[in-house]
Amino acid sequence: MPVLPITRLEFKDKKVLVRCDFNVPIHEGKIQDPARIDASLDTIRYILEHGGSAVLCSHLGRPKERSAELSLKPVAEYLSKALGQKVALAPDCIGDHTGKMIEALKPGDAILLENLRFHKEEEANDRDFSHELARHKQVYVNDGFGSAHRAHASTVGVTRFISERAAGFLMMRELEALRAVTENPQRPSVAILGGAKVSDKIGLIRNLLTKVDAILIGGAMAYTFLKAQGVAVGRSRVEDDKLELAKELLAEAARKGVKIVLPSDHIVASAPEAGATPHTVSEIPSEMIGLDIGPDTAAAFIAEIARAKTVIWNGPLGLFEIPAFAGGTMRVGEALANQPGVISIIGGGDTAAAFAHAPWASKFTHISTGGGATLEYLEGRELPGVKALEV
Ligand code: 3PG
Repeated sequence: MPVLPITRLEFKDKKVLVRCDFNVPIHEGKIQDPARIDASLDTIRYILEHGGSAVLCSHLGRPKERSAELSLKPVAEYLSKALGQKVALAPDCIGDHTGKMIEALKPGDAILLENLRFHKEEEANDRDFSHELARHKQVYVNDGFGSAHRAHASTVGVTRFISERAAGFLMMRELEALRAVTENPQRPSVAILGGAKVSDKIGLIRNLLTKVDAILIGGAMAYTFLKAQGVAVGRSRVEDDKLELAKELLAEAARKGVKIVLPSDHIVASAPEAGATPHTVSEIPSEMIGLDIGPDTAAAFIAEIARAKTVIWNGPLGLFEIPAFAGGTMRVGEALANQPGVISIIGGGDTAAAFAHAPWASKFTHISTGGGATLEYLEGRELPGVKALEV
């Protein structure tokens, strides 16, 4: 069933509940990376410019109870500046006081509801809470792609009570980008996978084995695959209980004709710490830890993606938080960003964080704002928040 884009709805004189994902890193009241907020501004502006009143809502963190630390106040302040108009923070997401504030909104006004997860009923997808959340609103727009894998009151429950619903621009962009790599991708199609654990990526690898022509594996998970092949990995991080699984996945790839490229050289050090001296090696000494792909591996990965028409990337190729071990991720990232004609989709979470300050990052086709949501989509799972939007 189809999901309507926001452009198909009328907003004039309507109160619009807009589910966003404003779950952004905040330290001492300061937003560290506003990318998720910025990504929803066009949706909010569209509603306001078309005569609607925007009632914005989001979760922040995983609170057990109401806390000042997890208040959305910094987000309301950021939105006020970004939109150039006052965005008041309602003291709660439901209740009479908030209801009165919503009723008083004029066309073109916006308000932000306080953290949805201050009520445990949000995550429980509670029916009465969903009903309360829907009160006073005539339209529902979900633009919070990052939360679409959660079946919560604000992502699913409210749709029982608001029949007019649509996806915001960010949600549409995300779905379009992810469809481009999973539904009849332009071939050759390549996946770059990294991150610490094979166990986090089993579903992803299995699904991608049916979609792509090659998978390039870096990050700590590469050492589990290398050890499974009998390669010495020193003291590198390995999931010993996943060695059999790694063998199975390699065999499955061979059966399906999917090329797997593993690192052939490494940046190693005696400890995964800033200040540890990095060495480039092709065989990992027994006392060393592999912390990044080496230059030959980076060149091999770049050669693979140079032939590709579609590239999906999930997970950094090394311990990118420490500059000495970020080189592989950055070298391959820059080559991909500068490759003409390729569709390049960067999965969210750590992968997006690795490129957050790279000057060439804007050249990727799409950088997803989702972490878990992107991963679940790429695993081939249905996202409840998207399903609930179908009309
Ligand atoms: C995310 O950051 O991935 C989303 O905002 C979802 O947050 P959650 O994992 O706490 O549900």
